[in-house]
Amino acid sequence: NVEDRIQKISSVIRVIPDFPKPGIMFQDITTLLLDTKAFKDCIDLFVERYKDKNISVVAGVEARGFIFGPPIALAIGAKFVPLRKPGKLPGEVIREEYSLEYGEDIMEMHVGAVNAGERAIIVDDLIATGGTLRAALNLLEHVGVEVVECTCLIELPELKGRDRLGDKPLFVLVSAS
Ligand code: PRP
Repeated sequence: NVEDRIQKISSVIRVIPDFPKPGIMFQDITTLLLDTKAFKDCIDLFVERYKDKNISVVAGVEARGFIFGPPIALAIGAKFVPLRKPGKLPGEVIREEYSLEYGEDIMEMHVGAVNAGERAIIVDDLIATGGTLRAALNLLEHVGVEVVECTCLIELPELKGRDRLGDKPLFVLVSAS
């Protein structure tokens, strides 16, 4: 059943203390990718949720949204749109500046990748403070896309990133402390 599948997925996400710096418990999804059954289950759970919802865009956040987004997009018959760090996309871009815990970052999307009125989900591996997903949401909404939901494997609920998304729904498989 679904609970068992989520439990298995959770159990193969490796937690590495003090990476990349002291005090951070890094949620390492590369170990999930090594478990073919758990990785497939993970994708299948998202696909079951989003198929038949008339979603034409799966937007993935660099870098790990590029791992989980494309298989979901292919399975539900949507296009995949990469949201990238600055200076990586070769065509004309729109950009969103956002704040991190320390400093600022920029996210970019190709102009013309999506059309106003399309229905999208945004995929990433993890929501921490929510700044990254908020920026992704702003980018898509700026060009008139309807974001149906943001979706992640892992949420760190203590950081209350969900609050940054306002009333936009957030779906996660695993809650980590
Ligand atoms: C991580 C994670 C999310 C983001 C979440 O990416 O994959 O994209 O942080 O943090 P937030 O909710 O506080 O914004 P990271 O900064 O490690 O970049 P990378 O995936 O390119 O390594």
